[in-house]
Amino acid sequence: MLLPLTIVAFLSSQIIARDHDYCYADDDNPYLYMATKTAYQFVHGGKTRYQTIPNCNPVQIWMLARHGTRYPKKSTITKLHTLPKLRDQIIYNHEIRGFGNLCDKDLKNLQSWNSIQNLTEDMAQYLTVQGEEDLKLLARRLQTNFPELLQPSAANITSTNYKFRSTDSQRTKASLTSFMHGLFGSSNAVTPEHTPANDTLLKAYKVCDSYQETLNDPSVFEESSKFGNGIEIENLLHNVSRRLGFRYNITTTSVGLMYDMCRYEKAWNVTKVSPWCAVFTVDELQILEYQEDLYYYYYTGPSREINARVGCPPLQDMFQHFQKLEGSEYSHQPKGIFYFTHSGSLQTTMTALGIAKDKVPLTASNYKEMSKRLWRTSEIGSFATNIVAVFYKCTTSDSPNKVMFYVAEKPLLFQGCDVGLCDWEYLKNKLGKEAFECSLDFCWDGSGATSLINGSLGILLFPALTLLFLGR
Ligand SMILES: *[C@@H]1O[C@H](CO)[C@@H](O)[C@H](O)[C@H]1NC(C)=O
Ligand SMILES: *[C@@H]1O[C@H](CO)[C@@H](O)[C@H](O)[C@H]1NC(C)=O
Ligand SMILES: *[C@@H]1O[C@H](CO)[C@@H](O)[C@H](O)[C@H]1NC(C)=O
Ligand SMILES: *[C@@H]1O[C@H](CO)[C@@H](O)[C@H](O)[C@H]1NC(C)=O
Ligand SMILES: *[C@@H]1O[C@H](CO)[C@@H](O)[C@H](O)[C@H]1NC(C)=O
Ligand SMILES: *[C@@H]1O[C@H](CO)[C@@H](O)[C@H](O)[C@H]1NC(C)=O
Repeated sequence: MLLPLTIVAFLSSQIIARDHDYCYADDDNPYLYMATKTAYQFVHGGKTRYQTIPNCNPVQIWMLARHGTRYPKKSTITKLHTLPKLRDQIIYNHEIRGFGNLCDKDLKNLQSWNSIQNLTEDMAQYLTVQGEEDLKLLARRLQTNFPELLQPSAANITSTNYKFRSTDSQRTKASLTSFMHGLFGSSNAVTPEHTPANDTLLKAYKVCDSYQETLNDPSVFEESSKFGNGIEIENLLHNVSRRLGFRYNITTTSVGLMYDMCRYEKAWNVTKVSPWCAVFTVDELQILEYQEDLYYYYYTGPSREINARVGCPPLQDMFQHFQKLEGSEYSHQPKGIFYFTHSGSLQTTMTALGIAKDKVPLTASNYKEMSKRLWRTSEIGSFATNIVAVFYKCTTSDSPNKVMFYVAEKPLLFQGCDVGLCDWEYLKNKLGKEAFECSLDFCWDGSGATSLINGSLGILLFPALTLLFLGR
């Protein structure tokens, strides 16, 4: 009785296998989009994409950047230490039981994998060496492209000319110093601005009570958890389990840990192959990517109005700086303003700017239709991702003030602008109200909380009011 069963299991596992001679380790073109744990190296456009703008001179550069590649948080590190056990089972499945479809090379890589040894809890969320490099190289590319602003004489490297500020964490502070070092050859060339405990500029989404209260409402994460229980993930669990030689379905937790190990290792050392990436096909990596995109789409992205509201303080800061450059008296204004923060801040600011706003909302049921979505955290939310805005003075146009936006060093083709180059007056018309009238009062006055879907009362009232309004 045993033999036929084994043969059936063997045959069915062959059917769902990838090409039997496929080896991830030999793949010259692996899929590298890993949602918010994507290495900046694989997505930025800095090598070719900066534009020289004829008849225009840059006079100020404003930047909001996420910290570079970091180590996982403490609870993740603890869980990742269970992977050696899973690895041993996978090896056992292949070598002793004859199940599983990893190629020999991928299996050997997994067998000799031991980088987890050096990952200890005291490193949690610290910036990695690659993370320092991310920011240092970003600084150098900006400097090369904007020499007028970023190659000052030693005497002009001052805290009046260059403003630096980070949130209060090791990874953002170290990102700031790495960037500064890349720019001026020293980590303390300029004294950074003070970081207030209540950081309403760079951490509004964290300090805003009303916003935080909305996160208690499970409906915010409903689509990503629906997707997590849906058919795509179900098939993924099944296929990955068979590929690794398990005859039962492994858990989403195990899959999540392997995915995390794969993408963290790829981001820590961009030239190395992580054996854990061999566990997944491209299709599967894209499914995992979509689940995370869904999560952030509702958490910080365009799906909720409150996300744009907590994203306005950096926008306001940018507009206030640019406003001071409008006239001819701008030579005493700073040349560079550089902020270092977290993905939530970057994403809510992008939401406030209207970046990556899809016409059709992302949901648990439209994965296939959204394959060309704009909201793709791999592209807009990787490690070290950034928004750069450059203010120009131009001579030929009747409107001398222009602004160009870059996201991850790619020009942002803002609607209503000329291949990304925007008239400052147009921008003020379009976004000035959101920017200049930005207020976080709703975060703490209690009244805003209810109208922004706070708790069950809000949930009940909101649709009812909408219906009433529509009924008129
Ligand atoms: C772990 O750290 C030790 C000491 O720094 C080093 O010799 C070893 O190569 C590291 N191992 C891995 C797998 O990175
Ligand atoms: C410093 O910058 C100002 C304004 O950009 C410029 O006029 C001046 O020559 C610079 N100083 C030195 C020492 O380069
Ligand atoms: C943070 O600042 C805002 C506005 O200045 C204030 O209303 C709020 O109470 C502060 N929050 C904390 C925790 O101090
Ligand atoms: C995963 O499983 C589904 C359903 O069993 C199958 O249709 C699909 O082709 C599999 N995908 C891969 C990449 O093996
Ligand atoms: C594993 O999951 C697949 C797809 O959901 C299901 O068809 C199969 O019965 C499950 N296998 C076991 C052993 O539970
Ligand atoms: C990255 O991995 C490659 C290949 O394994 C190795 O040669 C290199 O030293 C590693 N780089 C760092 C910074 O650890």
